[in-house]
Amino acid sequence: MNILLTGGAGYIGTHTIVELFKAGHSVVVVDNFVNSHPEALKRVESIAGRQVPFVQADIRNREALEKLFSNYAIDAVINFAGLKAVGESVEKPLEYYENNMNGLFVLVDVMRKNNCKNIIFSSSATVYGDPAIIPITEDCPKGQCTNPYGWTKSMLEQVLMDIQKADHSWNVVLLRYFNPIGAHESGLIGENPNGIPNNLMPYITQTAIGIRKELGVFGNDYDTPDGTGVRDYIHVVDLARGHVAALKAIEQNKGLAIYNLGTGHGYSVLDVVKAFEKVNNMKVPYVIKPRRAGDIATCYCNPSKAKEELGWEAIYGIDEMCRDSWKFQKNNPNGYETETNSKQL
Ligand code: NAD
Ligand code: UD1
Repeated sequence: MNILLTGGAGYIGTHTIVELFKAGHSVVVVDNFVNSHPEALKRVESIAGRQVPFVQADIRNREALEKLFSNYAIDAVINFAGLKAVGESVEKPLEYYENNMNGLFVLVDVMRKNNCKNIIFSSSATVYGDPAIIPITEDCPKGQCTNPYGWTKSMLEQVLMDIQKADHSWNVVLLRYFNPIGAHESGLIGENPNGIPNNLMPYITQTAIGIRKELGVFGNDYDTPDGTGVRDYIHVVDLARGHVAALKAIEQNKGLAIYNLGTGHGYSVLDVVKAFEKVNNMKVPYVIKPRRAGDIATCYCNPSKAKEELGWEAIYGIDEMCRDSWKFQKNNPNGYETETNSKQL
């Protein structure tokens, strides 16, 4: 299939391009680089040994999208494009609602006009709120999100479900990601956060390399085995393969399909710190801090639906996640900014 990846220059998108190529698909990428760097696509080209067709545009730009659809025959779209910083979404709710929601509205309208009605949407475990069931199955009721970013995911899921309900020729696949970490084994592509990282793994790797003094562990008084928050970390390459597998739901004309993409294992903050220290043979200084507002104690999934219906399951464990996150950080202490490419920009 020829797949359009919106936001394909980002963390998950770049890894997904590599896996789509491996599986014999072709791609087109559209991105406005609001949270990514052109160098990331060059790195993908060097891993894959082929060019990545690319259009630089904002997906809210209808004219640009229409031109893209008239220049390329697109079989399905994976919509990664979106703003994702939780804290920033609380500060700038309108910008988040406007970018994430309007971006999807324009995209699906242009898709429909071009008779392309197959979409995979990047959703998040955040839609479960404080989950009613652990491990979380797809039947678990959605919950109250604690921030505008989370609400954009929850509401856009609803928008896509309603579109599919009204027109059964749509195939809509909602992928609820748990906590993606890790990087491609080459160390060429990985997570490249702007500013101070919000998420655990980039904070650990930046502490390990000396950019941050110490990790703050947000709370050690949760009702978990060691008191720190428990999450379902998933290697980004496994997650990327989950998108390739999700194309099966489109090929089978499933209509609406919802899948959790996680490993089914919960690791605490201190489990991750210990695994990172052991695998990479180094120390990560940390201090216990108060709980972070909006955090929950435990969040991990039951991934069996994706296994049964798509034949997908995560193969990497926490050790590979820690090894590969560190490899990318070590090889790219300044992310994708190098002396050569920052002069070019
Ligand atoms: P990312 O920020 O690295 O990638 C998103 C890409 O979208 C970036 O390259 C950005 O430049 C682009 N983009 C944003 N708005 C755009 C617009 N209007 N037009 C064109 N391009 C635009 O994020 P990621 O980690 O790769 O996440 C991909 C998707 O998965 C996002 O929708 C995110 O919300 C979702 N998600 C991510 C996580 C995670 O932990 N990384 C978890 C759950 C869901
Ligand atoms: C967060 C977002 C979620 C989003 C996801 C994307 C919140 C409340 N939730 O999930 O909406 O979809 O990122 O990956 O922000 N931790 C520390 N110290 C740190 C950073 C994190 O102790 O410096 C802890 C957290 O308290 C949590 C765990 O590490 O227990 C994981 O945190 P994080 O990586 O931010 O992911 P989530 O909170 O699960």
